[in-house]
Amino acid sequence: MQGIKLLSFSTFGDENGLLSVIEGAEKLPFEIKRVYYIYNTKKDFIRGKHAHRKLQQILFCPKGSCDFILDDGRERQTVRLDRPDKGLYICGPVWREFTNFSPDCVVMVLASEKYDETDYIRDYEDFLKEKR
Ligand code: TYD
Repeated sequence: MQGIKLLSFSTFGDENGLLSVIEGAEKLPFEIKRVYYIYNTKKDFIRGKHAHRKLQQILFCPKGSCDFILDDGRERQTVRLDRPDKGLYICGPVWREFTNFSPDCVVMVLASEKYDETDYIRDYEDFLKEKR
């Protein structure tokens, strides 16, 4: 699908403990201007339901799991984030919905821009129009 890439973070350690790194160039193709995180979300609640015009993001679950339903206006794909060394890079307008949260789920988001409501497309029909 256009606008998304699955990432696998470099991980160090053994059965005594693990450490994962997200750094520079390919794994982090933008300068981080904002970090936010989502937690204490009810299992079947649907978050997201929007696309961004320009924002680039890397999303990952350092704890727990959830499903990302992604839609580029042509196809829909579900990506499950269920391990701390796995991430999702989203670049440009991709409609996203997050659900199926485990009770301990924390979604970390690294973002290329500060919060800007004008970058959001919050209506699905508007998203389809802008994609055309
Ligand atoms: P929103 O992006 O709609 O969350 P989600 O897609 O996960 O459901 O944001 C929820 C609220 O938080 C909304 O009122 C805007 C606010 N918010 C900020 O003020 N700054 C931020 O960086 C983010 C991501 C959200």
